[in-house]
Amino acid sequence: MTRANIAIDGPAGAGKSTVAKKLAAELGYTYIDTGAMYRALTWKVLQEQADPENESAVLHILQQMHLELDMKNGNVFVTVDEKDVTDAIRQQDVTSLVSFTARHARIRSEMVEKQKKLAEKGGTVMDGRDIGTAVLPDASFKFFLNATVEERAKRRHAEQLQKGMQSDLTQLQTEIAERDRIDSERETAPLKKADDALEVDTTAMTIDEVVSFLLGIVREVK
Ligand code: C5P
Repeated sequence: MTRANIAIDGPAGAGKSTVAKKLAAELGYTYIDTGAMYRALTWKVLQEQADPENESAVLHILQQMHLELDMKNGNVFVTVDEKDVTDAIRQQDVTSLVSFTARHARIRSEMVEKQKKLAEKGGTVMDGRDIGTAVLPDASFKFFLNATVEERAKRRHAEQLQKGMQSDLTQLQTEIAERDRIDSERETAPLKKADDALEVDTTAMTIDEVVSFLLGIVREVK
């Protein structure tokens, strides 16, 4: 039997990556974190002191860099030109610029090409903003995870404190809302629920409840 591809989209901090990782582990599928790809590019743009608004400069960097995503012990490890950037791509400097590098049409088209290749054999759970609409429009399952911005900020705040990172709840809420605004308003493949995606409001759900809900749907149909 061919293995399905599962698309999970939604705004920042809706729990997509944690849910996608767990779902992939349950199904024996590969988890692909497309946000990490845009973050890794942004990290490299910062290293090169390039202007994230300059599409040609960003494209040149993307075409030159060697990006790898690996799963180890249930976590995504990201390397750029052999350097481990797993933690660096989650830092504030990258987070506040990533929506600007991700906005360009030519950058998105290169990324989408790479992401389609990663999923061509099936058996993937891929999360992002445009998976159901642009990367895998024929995915067997499409979910759009949502939650109120207050709840998403609260979750991210708890996660950062747990990792020993500095965190300011009000600032997080502003930052998340702003990133969603830029991601939703961009011209190419904006953050948007695919018409045939199932929207799940996770505001009052735990991660495990969301995972079992999605798993139930996938197992019922598969
Ligand atoms: O998922 P994460 O929050 O790590 O994504 C970081 C940023 O990467 C998003 O805010 C968005 O600007 C960009 N992104 C995107 N398309 C995707 C995944 C992420 O534009 N498929």
